[in-house]
Amino acid sequence: MAGYIPPHFIDELLTRVDIVDVIDGRVALRKAGREYTACCPFHNEKTPSFTVSREKQFYHCFGCGVHGSAIGFLMEYEHMDFVEAVEELAGAIGLEVPRETGSAAPSADRGNQDLYEVLEKAVDYYRHQLRQHPQAGQAQDYLKGRGLSGEIAADFELGFAPPGWDNLTSALGVKAERLLAAGMLIRKDNGDHHDRFRERIMFPIRDRRGRVIGFGGRVMAGDVKPKYLNSPETPVFHKSSELYGLYQARKAVRKLERLLVVEGYMDVVSLAQFGVRNVVATLGTATTAEHLQRLFRVVPQVVFCFDGDRAGREAAWRALENALPVLSEGRRIRFMFLPDGEDPDSLVRKEGQAGFEQRLENASPFSHYFFEALSSRVDLGSIDGRAQLVEQARPLLKKLPQGVFRHMMATQLAEIARLDAAALADLTGVPRPRTGSVRPAPVAGTSPVRRAIRLLLQRPQLAEGLTELDALRGLELPGVPLLQAMIDLLRAHPHLSCGAILEHWRGQDEGRHLAHLARLPVDVPDEGLAVEFSDVMSHIASLHDEQAVDRLLAKSRLGDLSDEEKHQLKQSLAAKSGSGA
Ligand code: UTP
Ligand code: MN
Repeated sequence: MAGYIPPHFIDELLTRVDIVDVIDGRVALRKAGREYTACCPFHNEKTPSFTVSREKQFYHCFGCGVHGSAIGFLMEYEHMDFVEAVEELAGAIGLEVPRETGSAAPSADRGNQDLYEVLEKAVDYYRHQLRQHPQAGQAQDYLKGRGLSGEIAADFELGFAPPGWDNLTSALGVKAERLLAAGMLIRKDNGDHHDRFRERIMFPIRDRRGRVIGFGGRVMAGDVKPKYLNSPETPVFHKSSELYGLYQARKAVRKLERLLVVEGYMDVVSLAQFGVRNVVATLGTATTAEHLQRLFRVVPQVVFCFDGDRAGREAAWRALENALPVLSEGRRIRFMFLPDGEDPDSLVRKEGQAGFEQRLENASPFSHYFFEALSSRVDLGSIDGRAQLVEQARPLLKKLPQGVFRHMMATQLAEIARLDAAALADLTGVPRPRTGSVRPAPVAGTSPVRRAIRLLLQRPQLAEGLTELDALRGLELPGVPLLQAMIDLLRAHPHLSCGAILEHWRGQDEGRHLAHLARLPVDVPDEGLAVEFSDVMSHIASLHDEQAVDRLLAKSRLGDLSDEEKHQLKQSLAAKSGSGA
């Protein structure tokens, strides 16, 4: 049933289910102190860094950074969308998901379901044609000529789009409108339409959950253009984030350690036939940050495979630039360049699985390729050249997330350019020591507002006993509106867990920020939480007073304080000098 799931139901659901049960049914958890741990199901590891907290109703992996509530876990692990995850959880404890119909009801989901069904029918149709169509022989010969076995063709569900302009509407028994929406027909200027794919070998593209989202179609004759025709962008097909072969790779290899990114459909299929199954291809586009995000959810290491020619090197550099923002700790990318004139398909046929995998082993690490490519553009023997190197590297390194990796890259840059590391301080990602802070915060290194939020995420019930509420109003500090909103939420719903709080900001920047804070352990024993929270809130209250004083002082400089304001200022300053001694 379509309709909008009311937020209060999500609250209730997350109060009733236990994330430990939800995850333990899928990943064997072990109790370790107050939390539960396991080897992370989202990346490959030998020692457990995946933790689940019953108290917080929150999971988090220290290795790859995944995290979230029970809903988020199902979305990641079972590849469900939000509604499916909610329905699954509700079903498990016998709750009916209520729906509010109304203008807010997002109907996209139902619409997409329809597209998946149409596309699935098209897969069946094309596969059937590859066996049955009077002209199937030509297609089968083509595949044989390319050295593909029947087995691998079946594995990848290859098909044949026969000649003809109007096969799909008649054969599928589906209305043209639906096929148009799925990208399978082309609409002509006169409003008429015809099949998009004709006389082509068809490669169905499935998303990571296994739903068909589009096709690539290859001509069988050498001179027809374009060689490959792809589905257009549709509500379910987005070239800039989808990868051909990801679904098949995950299915074939139980625990993927790394994925190889190649350029072509044929490369994926051909490598798979030779036993190299951890391969995906972009869909005729450059590798984007979204592609990489998707890959890094599955594996910690990605190897790019490019032609050795100029175009290949340019594509590699573009991939490198796009990768910078997502290269956080624990994620690695490497670059593999093929001999001139070869692609992975031709090479694996010459060198076999072992030979190809040996090349994979020898792929250049990110830092190696980065500095090699940059150095080749300048003369490292001269001061000018080394300065150029630094100038070219600087903006790129700044795109890396702050952290150890960026620090190491900056250090290496300093070595190559013969600079001392201090000269690159802005690149090393270590914040400069703060000077002259007015008064020490109760806990170093974190603002009191963030601290308050972290404590609330740890124990939401702290909001109940709050007395310093007014202090927040009018306080101009980052994070205050969010802290205020959390407190309001928790006062109305005192029993929300950390996981349930996060769901209130799903998909928003605030939610990401909160999740980030929820992952940081609070270094205060249970007994101390209440006291710590009250300290932090008093600290915030004092900031409020300071801001009020600053405002009054600024106003007094303009000479327009009212009598009452003058009195307030005097009192505040007196109180400050009294307590600050
Ligand atoms: P290539 O031209 O390198 O083809 O295109 P290939 O994969 O080696 O294919 P074969 O071996 O000739 O069959 C690489 C990728 O670029 C996209 C496709 O995704 C293709 O797999 N491409 C290429 C297109 O989208 N359209 C084209 O016309 C050509
Ligand atoms: Mn090829």
